[in-house]
Amino acid sequence: MLLTSGKPFHDYVDVENATVDRTIFSDQAIYDAELERIFARAWNFMCHESQIPRPGDFLLNFIGEESVIATRDKKGELQVLLNSCRHRGNAVCRAEQGNARSFLCTYHGWTYGLDGKLIGVPGYKDFYHEQLDKSQWGLVSAAKVASYKGWVFATMDPEAPDLEEYLGPVGRIGIDLCASRGDMIAVEGVQKNIIGCNWKLAVDNLFDYYHVAITHASAFMTEFMPGRNAARRAAGQNPMNHRVLLGDYGHAIGGPKVPQEEWDAIGLEDTGPINEEWRKGPVAQEALGEAASALRGQPNIWPNLWLTGGGSQFSLRLPKGPHATEIWWFTFVDKNQPPEMQALRAKLSTRAFGPAGMLEQEDGENWDQSTRATRGPIARRYPLNYQMNLRRGEPTITEQGVPYIDAAINEHGQLWTYLAWAEWMDAESWADLKANRTPTPRAPF
Ligand code: FES
Ligand code: FE
Repeated sequence: MLLTSGKPFHDYVDVENATVDRTIFSDQAIYDAELERIFARAWNFMCHESQIPRPGDFLLNFIGEESVIATRDKKGELQVLLNSCRHRGNAVCRAEQGNARSFLCTYHGWTYGLDGKLIGVPGYKDFYHEQLDKSQWGLVSAAKVASYKGWVFATMDPEAPDLEEYLGPVGRIGIDLCASRGDMIAVEGVQKNIIGCNWKLAVDNLFDYYHVAITHASAFMTEFMPGRNAARRAAGQNPMNHRVLLGDYGHAIGGPKVPQEEWDAIGLEDTGPINEEWRKGPVAQEALGEAASALRGQPNIWPNLWLTGGGSQFSLRLPKGPHATEIWWFTFVDKNQPPEMQALRAKLSTRAFGPAGMLEQEDGENWDQSTRATRGPIARRYPLNYQMNLRRGEPTITEQGVPYIDAAINEHGQLWTYLAWAEWMDAESWADLKANRTPTPRAPF
């Protein structure tokens, strides 16, 4: 696909020199193409099954900028429906979450069942003379809806591979880790706030351990971040010891590598009840072998679902134009934990991220300023730099076929994300993307 500039999208990401053209963070035409080529094609995270346990339960979410209803029909089957009436396009559901028997359009009253079928049309007999073929005018349904261990995803593209294949081992591991903590349920409510940044810069940051000491200096000073002693700080943030996993279709995990002996040596007693969240242990090893045993990094499920390193919070980065991103935070707890433990988990979550979270306030300011500077015709002439430890580090493949790179702190996760971005954007179809993407295990950097 070519824009009016005539450039293929690959030209915006210079993998050889590890630079990225700032235009991709602010150009409206590029943004519009992202909605079509990435979001309308990918598997998008919808909700956790515990958020819609009964028939009629629903939760509104987005695919790109388009509102969709994730619900359960009368048979209990998961459905994802485009929230747009087939008559004039009005939304058929305005509440963010709830339970409904059907979806009634408030414009002229067309009514849809929980499975999206058009079941009621005012004046069907007198105005339409019973000739309107209701079977043809149901809500648009997702091409595929699937749950992986309770986390529900949907794609609008029938050519997309099935969810598990799409996720691959690198995409699945973050969910595996969260699922392994017990009978997980979502804490009621989703934290939502808008940051004035391009969605890709928010994704970029989740692999970024370079910023932590500077951006979050106040979090360390106030002891908000786990750094109460030098040994722990060294283990958790050692810039010389990192590990990156690069997955199919743009999934990636990146961050510090902390061998278990190191955690054991420093002791974690003082971290209280969330100790286990720092340990990735047997589940990770089973899924990824050696690649995951020491991993303390952050997974991103392409395109926009961040699973925090602690593993109990998932964040969606929903695009709202090139210069705004709505950040959603879901928190998960074990259903069988005592209520006070669940409450503590929820409290810790709101303190770290979301509109009142210490970390995200600090991050958001930076992303906002970075995005602003992509708009200027002068600044745009100068690309962004992703050269840290470029071509350093040893790519290895586990027995399970999972590639990883051990290196000092680096920007490989970000560069992989932008390379995937270019591949998704240039691909004409799923078949094209499958045929022309950069195969793992070898990244070209
Ligand atoms: Fe929905 Fe007319 S727009 S009934
Ligand atoms: Fe940060």
